[in-house]
Amino acid sequence: MARLKISGLKKSYGKVPAVRGVDLDISEGEFTVLVGPSGCGKSTLLRTIAGLEEADDGSIEIDGELVNDVRPRDRNVAMVFQNYALYPYMNVFENIAFGLRARKAPKNQVKDQVQRAAEMLGITSLLERLPRELSGGQRQRVAIGRAIVREARLFLFDEPLSNLDAQLRDEMRSEIKRLHQDIGKTMVYVTHDQIEAMTLADRIVLMKDGLIEQQGMPLELFERPATRFVAGFLGSPAMNFIPATLKRKGTGIAMVFDDGAALALPASRKASLSGSVGRAVLFGVRPEHIERSRKGSARPGQARLKVTIDLVQPTGPRTYGTFLLGGVETVAELEVHDVERPGESLALLFDMNRIVIIDPETELVISHSGT
Ligand SMILES: Nc1ncnc2c1ncn2[C@@H]1O[C@H](COP(=O)(O)OP(=O)(O)OP(=O)(O)O)[C@@H](O)[C@H]1O
Ligand SMILES: [Mg+2]
Repeated sequence: MARLKISGLKKSYGKVPAVRGVDLDISEGEFTVLVGPSGCGKSTLLRTIAGLEEADDGSIEIDGELVNDVRPRDRNVAMVFQNYALYPYMNVFENIAFGLRARKAPKNQVKDQVQRAAEMLGITSLLERLPRELSGGQRQRVAIGRAIVREARLFLFDEPLSNLDAQLRDEMRSEIKRLHQDIGKTMVYVTHDQIEAMTLADRIVLMKDGLIEQQGMPLELFERPATRFVAGFLGSPAMNFIPATLKRKGTGIAMVFDDGAALALPASRKASLSGSVGRAVLFGVRPEHIERSRKGSARPGQARLKVTIDLVQPTGPRTYGTFLLGGVETVAELEVHDVERPGESLALLFDMNRIVIIDPETELVISHSGT
C-alpha cells in the first residue's frame, strides 16, 4: 500500500499543455477516480505517475520517496492501459504469470498467485485459452489479473472498462470495487464516465483543461458543486441551467425567468441571497428534483409551475419530459405515466432546497443545498 503525493505537476507535448499544474494527496488504500472530458489530461497524469512520461515540472512522491527520476519498472506501480494488449500466443495463465516469471518468482508462487487472481476475477475456467478465444470482457479481466498479481504498491487503471458493453461494464464495475475492498491497495482510476466515477470512488478528482476543477467525496461534489462545470458534469440527465433574475416577491425572494415565470425560494435561503436581489444569475436544477404536482403534494421548499411538455422520453423506470422554461429546453425526470404524449400541460414542483445558483460571469456556484 502506498501514499501518493503530487505537487505542481506539469506536462506538455511540445506546445500542447496536457497537465498544467496538479496537486494531489492520495492516502494509503484510497480509491481515487480521475474524471473529466476527453483531452483534459487524465491519461497524461496517470502515465506520468507510472513513469511512462517525464514530468516537465513538479514532484511525484510514493510513500515519501521522490520518484521523478526512478525508472518505471522500479516504481513498483501496476498499470492497466486504456488500450491494453495481451500476448496473443500465450494462454491466459501465461499472460497473467508474465510479470512474475520476469521477476523469476518460484514456480509454486507463480501458480498460487495466478490461481488466486483468476478466482477473484472469475476466469479460473479460462486459464488454458488463448486471448483470441475470449470475449472482450474476459480479455479485460485477464489484463486486470496481470496487473494485480504484481503485488505493486500502487495500481493505475486507465479506462479499463471502455471497450465493454453496458451490462458487462456494470458487472466489472462491481468486481473492481469488490477487488479494492478485498486487497485494499491504493488505486487511481481514470474514466470519463461519471456513473463509474460516482459508484467507484472514495474520492473524485474532476479535471478540466489540464487542471483539477474540484475534488472530494462523490456526493460532496454532486450536492455541493463549486462551479457550473462540476454541476453539469456529474448527473444524468445533466443539470438544467436557465438564466434568471433574483427578485423580491412579497416577503421572500423568487427566481424570475425571461418568460415571466417565477419560482419562490425557500425562507432558509433568504439570508444568504438577500444581497443578490436584482442580480442576473444562472438557475441550476437537476431533472430528478422536478416532479409532477399532485393534489396536496407540495412539500416545504417546493415551488409550483405550470408547463407544457414538448418532448416525452420514456426510459422504462422513469420518463423524461422536456419543456421550455425562460426560453430554455428543460428536462424533468418524471414517473412513468406522468406524461404520455407531447403537448400535455402539467403542473410541476421544483425542489428549491436542492437547486444551485451560479454567477453567469465567473461560472462559480454562489448558492447550493448546503448554503
Ligand atoms: N503523445 C502525445 N503527443 C501530443 N499531444 C498529446 C499526446 N498525448 C496526449 N496529447 C494531448 O494532450 C492532451 C491531454 O491528453 P490525454 O490523453 O491526457 O487526455 P485524456 O483526458 O486521457 O483524454 P481521453 O478521455 O480522450 O482519453 C490532449 O490535448 C491531447 O491531444
Ligand atoms: Mg485518456
